[in-house]
Amino acid sequence: MRTFGLLAVLASCAWLLVSGQTDDVCKAQDRTYSTDAVPAGSYQPYDKLNPVVGMLSTKFYVTVVNLTPHRIKLESTHSYQMDVFDFGDVPQGRARQNAVKYRGSWSTKDDAGEAYYRIDGTDKKFALRVKSYSGSDPRRVVFDLSGMGLGQREYVFPGGDTAVSLVITGSNRFGFQASLRHGPGNWMRKMYDVIGDRLVRHLIMPGTHDAGMSKITNKITSIGSEQNTQNQGVNIYDQLRAGSRWFDLRIGSIHPNDNAAKNNGFWVMHVNDELGTLAIGNTGESLDEVISEINRFTSENPGEIVFFTMRYLVGRYELPDRGPIMWNAGVVNDFFSKLRAINNRCLNLDTSTGFQNQKASYFMDQNEGKGCVIMLLNGHLDGGGVPRESPGDGIYDKGRMDINDHWSDKMQAVDMAPDQVRNWRSAARGGASDYGNFMIAQWLVTPDALASTAYSLQNFAIQPTNPSLYWAGVNGMDPEHWPNVLLVDYIGVQQRGQWAWDRLSAEIYTLAVGMNLYMASENCDVNKRRPPLLRRGEVAVEEEEAPWNGIIFANGTTLDNPPPTLHPGRAAMLRNGTVFGNGTVLERSIPNPWL
Ligand SMILES: *[C@@H]1O[C@H](CO)[C@@H](O)[C@H](O)[C@H]1NC(C)=O
Ligand SMILES: *[C@@H]1O[C@H](CO)[C@@H](O)[C@H](O)[C@H]1NC(C)=O
Ligand SMILES: *[C@@H]1O[C@H](CO)[C@@H](O)[C@H](O)[C@H]1NC(C)=O
Repeated sequence: MRTFGLLAVLASCAWLLVSGQTDDVCKAQDRTYSTDAVPAGSYQPYDKLNPVVGMLSTKFYVTVVNLTPHRIKLESTHSYQMDVFDFGDVPQGRARQNAVKYRGSWSTKDDAGEAYYRIDGTDKKFALRVKSYSGSDPRRVVFDLSGMGLGQREYVFPGGDTAVSLVITGSNRFGFQASLRHGPGNWMRKMYDVIGDRLVRHLIMPGTHDAGMSKITNKITSIGSEQNTQNQGVNIYDQLRAGSRWFDLRIGSIHPNDNAAKNNGFWVMHVNDELGTLAIGNTGESLDEVISEINRFTSENPGEIVFFTMRYLVGRYELPDRGPIMWNAGVVNDFFSKLRAINNRCLNLDTSTGFQNQKASYFMDQNEGKGCVIMLLNGHLDGGGVPRESPGDGIYDKGRMDINDHWSDKMQAVDMAPDQVRNWRSAARGGASDYGNFMIAQWLVTPDALASTAYSLQNFAIQPTNPSLYWAGVNGMDPEHWPNVLLVDYIGVQQRGQWAWDRLSAEIYTLAVGMNLYMASENCDVNKRRPPLLRRGEVAVEEEEAPWNGIIFANGTTLDNPPPTLHPGRAAMLRNGTVFGNGTVLERSIPNPWL
């Protein structure tokens, strides 16, 4: 043991001499990002949102996102009673939407297929298992990352012709993480060493659209319902834990029908037109709830940068049929005194420079390292004598930051996604042509009232829209092209109505971590140091996470310490008729050789 320890010390000293501090430089020739072709993916066809049509679907997709410096190599596949089982390698920095088509339709509960992968150049392996069952949620996929020490999770496809996504980042030197579960809430602080010196416009973060609409509270009398007006499944606290750092909040005051001067409180709202004679929509969380959720998060996770943009900032009558009530100085002062209850505001920031051009550390170091909660107001504070900001309270006009906020205004993901990708590809990051703005990609669709009432905003988010981010979105990014905010509806929600914290899934969280750690780090104009995933043992990690190699089943049951032989979805026998990836067809049943 002593000899081994000494050897390890010698080895690490030798490594430091060869490639240690003296060589901590980003070099173009070290880039691992791959431009290899990957097959085009498919969007969920619109008719499949209809539950009756979607039920009959036999096509599903499993997207694998590789934000590591290693190729993810397909080693083998086999499938039984599938017409299509198209899996393949995932090059570095890319995504592959793998396709599955069941033969025939329902009740063939022995349909199954497995794909075995290796992280190239390492001993890390994982398997994807597609399987059908009888009963509810018959078609599922298991991500078995137990061979990487990252656990297993069984997912249900969220609808017909939809995808389930697996995002992997890290490296063999750095350690891997995957999207089966959320990592720590303070993901920015965890990579202070990586992002501290970067400009805010060189960060990538999740954002939440209509963020306070995580419930319907009926403070106005209107027809907005959960189906057509609720945009999130979890509250601001859980959105923060799920990685969101950019919040699209719309806030209004509520007034009795007979008394415009009386303010019955500040509420999050989502209406068709906040200035319209008639406002159609509803209210969500109260401002008081939002504030206590922020404070709970920042007390548990100090050191982050969180932006709260606040739109509307007008009053509405309880029966909102007589236009807005513009805020006077008294209402604005009441609003500002509410906001003063938010902890870790950043007072008197330097406004001579756009916030997007400051280093991340400028904000993360504020409040003795507890970070910044930044309010950016963008409402209708237009009246004479009405303050538009209060820097001494940490409340700023949104104009303090140069922002390109791109909304596609499309009803279908197939139209939205290419429009968003085109927008962020129009702006290079780093170098002489560096794009100076902070860019928000609204990765969301805008169905009309009839469609959202029929199919629900939740289904629009979790079926066609959010899953397309992981292939169409990711393959539209490279080390020079990405938005700063990926703004979504229903953050973290993978299965309809499953909104408890431990039922969420961490695809966007892992994507954001991986985009900062891997993708932006491979751009030597953005990152001057050797990319963190290529360094060894040098990247400061504040505390080690306890390793977890458990199983999360589709019904939510979690086994933290499963027996090592338990691999859900694995077939004991490979049946006569099983097709291997190399084209061989089994002519008799054999025991599964991978057991
Ligand atoms: C959930 O699924 C697991 C695995 O299929 C099963 O053992 C367990 O009994 C189920 N739990 C419930 C509450 O249905
Ligand atoms: C095809 O793959 C199977 C499973 O790995 C293997 O047993 C078989 O020998 C392979 N066939 C050929 C022709 O390579
Ligand atoms: C395997 O399936 C083929 C085609 O259905 C059939 O002809 C053959 O007899 C089967 N073999 C065994 C051992 O069951």
